[in-house]
Amino acid sequence: MPDARQRAYLEAMGIPLWERRGVAGAVIAEEQGANPLEDPSSSNEPLLPQAPMAGQEAESAPGGPEAAPPLLTAEPRDMDWDGLQQAVTSCRQCSLCDSRTQTVFGVGDRSARLMLIGEAPGADEDRLGEPFVGRAGQLLTAMLAAIGFAREQVYIANVLKCRPPGNRDPHVDEVAACRAYLDRQIELIQPRLILSLGGVSAKNLLDTDEGVGRLRKRLHHYAATGTPLRVTYHPAFLLRRPEEKAKAWADLQQVWSDLQGSAPA
Ligand code: URA
Repeated sequence: MPDARQRAYLEAMGIPLWERRGVAGAVIAEEQGANPLEDPSSSNEPLLPQAPMAGQEAESAPGGPEAAPPLLTAEPRDMDWDGLQQAVTSCRQCSLCDSRTQTVFGVGDRSARLMLIGEAPGADEDRLGEPFVGRAGQLLTAMLAAIGFAREQVYIANVLKCRPPGNRDPHVDEVAACRAYLDRQIELIQPRLILSLGGVSAKNLLDTDEGVGRLRKRLHHYAATGTPLRVTYHPAFLLRRPEEKAKAWADLQQVWSDLQGSAPA
């Protein structure tokens, strides 16, 4: 049975709970089968967005027009975490470096079983240097908690490390410039499963124009690393379309199920 904290998260997600008639005290989420909330690994860690990790991007002023782009002395695929983080912090591989406040590298457990990949930093993330810290991030944190994960137990990153101005969709050249960083993060983490958040993330990770509504129905693999990958709705979309939250909840249950026992094929 979900405890009070998990019930609060389900309610925050807009997933209705009801008392099953005739079964004293049994509370189940609507449209669900087995209840992943009973996962004993469920954590009591605080779930509010965290401050930027120590050693993560400090404030970095955008380079002026006269600043020469630093040359990458090593390929991201050869970098360790420190080298990769430094390379991202000082990256000038595309024009987003001119408008960003700071890069948004990624956050969480670097040996996580579950890696979540969103689209790109928004205004809050650009300001704070951490992915998914705005309203969508709060919903994402609640969604994770509902399947027993604290933010600190997963790794969260984006396809892009810099905010596109006005939150426009990423351009092809920007995704290409950032791809090696993301690939190296995936290689270093070796997650058992990637959860792609939203259409822009899925389109770029899977190189497809298929919509989330179809992609979420089957297991995929990220081509560069062979990592099993699932797709669900972006939390910002769920904030606009709360009636779709039940589908996202079903997707999260599938993720929880995938992570039990052996890795999904
Ligand atoms: N949306 C995203 O895709 N990523 C973030 O980090 C924040 C909002």
